[in-house]
Amino acid sequence: MRRALLKLASPTAKGIVSLMNAPDDRKGSPDRFGYSWERFSELTPEQEIQFRRWTPQLSPERDWRGKAFLDGGCGAGRNSYWAMSYGAKSCVAIDLDERSLDAARRNLARFPTAEVKKCSLYDLPFRDTFDIAFSIGVIHHLDNPQLAVRKLAEAVRPGGRVLIWVFGYENLEFYVNVLDPVRKALLSWMPVALVRLLAWIPATLLWGILRLGFTPLEYLRLLRAFPLRHVHHIVFDQMLPRTACYWRKEQAVALLEQAGLCEIDCAWVNEVSWSAIGTKPIAARPSSAQDQSEE
Ligand SMILES: C[S@@+](CC[C@H](N)C(=O)[O-])C[C@H]1O[C@@H](n2cnc3c(N)ncnc32)[C@H](O)[C@@H]1O
Repeated sequence: MRRALLKLASPTAKGIVSLMNAPDDRKGSPDRFGYSWERFSELTPEQEIQFRRWTPQLSPERDWRGKAFLDGGCGAGRNSYWAMSYGAKSCVAIDLDERSLDAARRNLARFPTAEVKKCSLYDLPFRDTFDIAFSIGVIHHLDNPQLAVRKLAEAVRPGGRVLIWVFGYENLEFYVNVLDPVRKALLSWMPVALVRLLAWIPATLLWGILRLGFTPLEYLRLLRAFPLRHVHHIVFDQMLPRTACYWRKEQAVALLEQAGLCEIDCAWVNEVSWSAIGTKPIAARPSSAQDQSEE
């Protein structure tokens, strides 16, 4: 009895370690992204082009119709919007910030089977539920990406698919090693309103350079068609987060493998990022049950 009481009162070493390793929701910068989504939440045709590029393994004509999906870190709900408009049966779009959730509710209001819910990727309460779970532009901002992808994998049914779109390292070496340290050391600590104001400088420069025809990467060729306001939103999104990782192909693939997914297909998107999709294995039946059913 005394031992049981002592055990209750003092957490085990394992407990303490797991508390120390508890993922920190703030590191995904939901508050800073919420500020951004509150100011840029409209749906535009350019965003549909982006969604199709971020999900190249899923055809708008075939792969969404009748499917139930989860959108992990939905922001203003734009990705869920396109998937629902391709005929998906239902969705649950989750995020942490109320301003993002409000924007997503507005954008998804025309779909009665779209649920928008406050929840962390780390605490997803779903098991074997969805046909597809995706997380676009979120996992590379988290302090525990492995846990988040494992939760997405748990949420899909056996045979269901998990897709993540993440920043790539390849082709972005200069950006990652020279420019991104400025975000890390300076911008990520600044008030987000000030970062938004400052973002007009690189955004206008970039927009001008694109107009002059400097487009060595597929991503820049895509951005060339975007209005300045949208380019500013993209540049601001690069400057605001507390955490941002840029991964090589094998690192993106490893995230899905570690979550127990198979049949992984990793596509190079816009020559600067990775879209990796995997399938949750259909568990083999236990051999005794199989033997009995065959008798
Ligand atoms: C760059 S935005 C991407 C939003 C959306 N997926 C899109 O592509 O439009 C990252 C989003 O992840 C959300 N986020 C950050 N940490 C999260 C967490 N632990 N659980 C759920 N969402 C999170 C942020 O609030 C933000 O809306």
